[in-house]
Amino acid sequence: MEVYLRTARLELRPFTGSAEDVENLYALDDDPAVMKYLTGGRSTPRETVRDEVLPRLLAAYRRSPGFGCWAAAARDGGAFLGWFALSRDESTPAGQAELGYRLRQEAWGQGYATEGSRALIDKGFAELGLGRITAHTMTVNLGSRRVMEKCGLRYVRTFFLDWPDVIEGGEQGDVEYELLQADWTPSSRS
Ligand SMILES: CC(C)(COP(=O)(O)OP(=O)(O)OC[C@H]1O[C@@H](n2cnc3c(N)ncnc32)[C@H](O)[C@@H]1OP(=O)(O)O)[C@@H](O)C(=O)NCCC(=O)NCCS
Repeated sequence: MEVYLRTARLELRPFTGSAEDVENLYALDDDPAVMKYLTGGRSTPRETVRDEVLPRLLAAYRRSPGFGCWAAAARDGGAFLGWFALSRDESTPAGQAELGYRLRQEAWGQGYATEGSRALIDKGFAELGLGRITAHTMTVNLGSRRVMEKCGLRYVRTFFLDWPDVIEGGEQGDVEYELLQADWTPSSRS
């Protein structure tokens, strides 16, 4: 199995088009607590994962080699824990990428999101030539904002978009955070 990145406790690998990855992603989104600040709790249908979500992830690897959304598991053959993303799309300015994460509820509260994110940030700045990493979340998603802060990102702005789902706290908008390469301290030294 191809490994993208290892941390002390995690292994990140590319998604494949396998039935197992369809189930991994489906089960992750099938937990209303996981989707609370994304869709208001609504799940992603299995067919949508298979026919839209996974093909989009695979196409992104081809479009921007080295970037994308990575399946996370505990090291040495552990169970699927969720995903981390350091991604670019057609509109992303040169030298930038966006950080993201979504973990199974069983994995929360153990520092995994911070550990995986710091490793991706290190890779982005040290190996992938990035100058700026951004992240965004709902204003009321305090856990996600805390992960950003623990990774050294700073608050940039609050903004308001029209989302298809009505989510509690949505009226407070979304927040953007950033970390510039010039302000970055590699995790191993922090
Ligand atoms: C957000 C998420 C990735 C955090 O994962 P995690 O592995 O539990 O994160 P960590 O353990 O690394 O750190 C979480 C931090 O947030 C804090 N936190 C969690 N929930 C919080 C809340 N409701 N209010 C304030 N702080 C909170 C934790 O105490 C911890 O900070 P600390 O180490 O200073 O105590 C995880 O809850 C998740 O996948 N949620 C669902 C998907 C999602 O919302 N993704 C982000 C969308 S942008």
